Amino acid sequence: MSDSEDSQLEARLAEQEVFEPPESFVEQANVSDPAIYEEFEDDWPACWERAADLLDWETEYDEVLVDDDEPFYEWFTGGELNASANCLDRHLDSRGDELAIQWEGELGETRAYTYEELHREVNEFAAALRDLGVEEDDVVTMYMPMIPELPVAMLACARIGAPHSVVFAGFSADALATRMNSAESEYLVTCDGYYRRGDGLDHLSKANEGLGGVDHETTTVVVDRLGDELEHELGADQIDYDELVADHEGAAVEPVTRDAEDMLFLMYTSGTTGQPKGVKHTTGGYLSYVSWTSHAVLDVKPEDTYWCSADIGWITGHSYIVYGPLALGTTSVMYEGTPDYPDKDRMWDIVESYGVNQLYTAPTAIRAFMKWGSEYPEQHDLSSLRLLGTVGEPINPKAWKWYYKHIGDESCPVVDTWWQTETGGMMITTLPGIGTMKPGTAGPPLPGIDAQVVDTEGAEVEPGEAGYVTVNKPWPGMLRTLYKNDERFLEEYWQEYSDEGEDEWVYFPEDGAKIDDDGYITILGRVDDVINVSGHRLGTMEVESAIVGVEGVAEAAVVGGDHDLKGEAVYAYVILEDGYEESEEMSDRIIEGVEDAIGPIARPEQVIFTPELPKTRSGKIMRRLLEDIANGEELGNTSTLRNPEIVEDIERKVSGD
Ligand code: PRX
Repeated sequence: MSDSEDSQLEARLAEQEVFEPPESFVEQANVSDPAIYEEFEDDWPACWERAADLLDWETEYDEVLVDDDEPFYEWFTGGELNASANCLDRHLDSRGDELAIQWEGELGETRAYTYEELHREVNEFAAALRDLGVEEDDVVTMYMPMIPELPVAMLACARIGAPHSVVFAGFSADALATRMNSAESEYLVTCDGYYRRGDGLDHLSKANEGLGGVDHETTTVVVDRLGDELEHELGADQIDYDELVADHEGAAVEPVTRDAEDMLFLMYTSGTTGQPKGVKHTTGGYLSYVSWTSHAVLDVKPEDTYWCSADIGWITGHSYIVYGPLALGTTSVMYEGTPDYPDKDRMWDIVESYGVNQLYTAPTAIRAFMKWGSEYPEQHDLSSLRLLGTVGEPINPKAWKWYYKHIGDESCPVVDTWWQTETGGMMITTLPGIGTMKPGTAGPPLPGIDAQVVDTEGAEVEPGEAGYVTVNKPWPGMLRTLYKNDERFLEEYWQEYSDEGEDEWVYFPEDGAKIDDDGYITILGRVDDVINVSGHRLGTMEVESAIVGVEGVAEAAVVGGDHDLKGEAVYAYVILEDGYEESEEMSDRIIEGVEDAIGPIARPEQVIFTPELPKTRSGKIMRRLLEDIANGEELGNTSTLRNPEIVEDIERKVSGD
């Protein structure tokens, strides 16, 4: 496209505020009748049978929803099923030879698993886990990058009724140890390493370091991803994955019958305190919900090739790379590496090679693609794409429109899906076969989801005013509790807006939002001490405690500042102990301390040394002010501070004057 055509298009798109779903999409959409919103409302909670009907149940459930002990809801009570049987066995007759997973390594090697092949390996590994002593309800931790053995291990656990707890491979050794200790997990599945930008990275040393911090005996299975590239020695309680699977060649493991409410997995996520929260998801409700949303929102059909470019180490990968797509019998693409290796067209090369039909990615990635330029997607035939999705953070209209035009060729609906680790699956988004799209606005709540935007008192705000998202009715994919911590579950999610006396239970996701006249919700971001870096959730407290763990640091305050690519970035304001000097070396040590405690995603963008932090007269750190400083914004009245004189000093440092 010439520069002038490009700018004409930009001008036209810049003005367009609403977009209709393309006719060609609507005609074939899994869900295209607008009556669905009313049907779900009129028939609530029985409407959720539609989600459960997407699964095979060994025993039919007696009740859709049991709410005797709110907010500890139960879904599809009395029902029995197995998640691995739903993702594998039931597809064998009709789709055994079709691809379940199409994997591509960073160096270009590929591995494809048909449903039959995936079923075989999952059975073999399930048999191996049993032989290692894993019993039903034992938590098995996985600390693995994007390699096929990760979904194999997850499904093998599901098969034998052992909940998994996947720890993102980019997290540090400390983070692994904390999570294994918290879950009392005695089993770990990990690997020797993986590729990043063409280099083989050692992962096992990090896993071993983490295991050193686990306070009970463990058994570890190690996948050999790097072969000769990285020689590694296994410890006495470590077993090679390939040997284990070979020893169990041809094994068949009957899927264990699980109650709908039995735990399928745990996923640790960040909250307001330094201690990560173990979000508990169950078998029947979660699997129904991710299958339903994959069907209704991502328009997944068995014959599709579908690609979610998230990492399985986060909830998005659990719900929309593994469980949702495989339950629907589609082909799910997995890519090991970075989107700009060996060049910035890697994603588009993958879309073209496999004929990807749906692409689900993060706004951070889209902003990077935009910066790299449209010449990269233009080198490839992307006409197989039918739907585009985004998740994890707000998407600005400019990035939305770029995605719509340059990737979707103005012929794919874009779904901007708001949800959380805790919600299990999507909650607020347009339905692609029905809803008008408004860039920058996620859309209305999904059918059956009673989300509102309210003020601090819980009253609905006027259109255009800022408020808080609440969810006023339960839904099947919701978390059931925080692992072994019902009290924290109640405190974190149900205290703010519920009225226990009136038996009114309201879920509070801790997000700010606005609503418009059409009921479309625009998410404004977290209102708690959680920041969102490239769609990854970090607790400011976690980062602060990593920083004060560095020798010489007396106090730290961490906030999220705006960032062109990452959405938000970590800004660390640090007070040093007497006798320690501000220096680049000190700053490097702090950054290293954060990387060691959490992982590179939490790396501070800037470390700002200060003799004091701005505090209120009651001694609370003024975080809002620190955020404004990081964003270079005009500061309001600072006279209520105990130490207003410090503000100018800090501002000067941040702006580098
Ligand atoms: O602030 C919201 C933001 O991500 C948070 C949830 O993070 P996590 O549990 O890691 O799950 C991420 C993947 C689902 C939310 O509280 N968020 C998620 N999706 C969107 C979003 N913010 C704006 N728009 C979205 N589409």
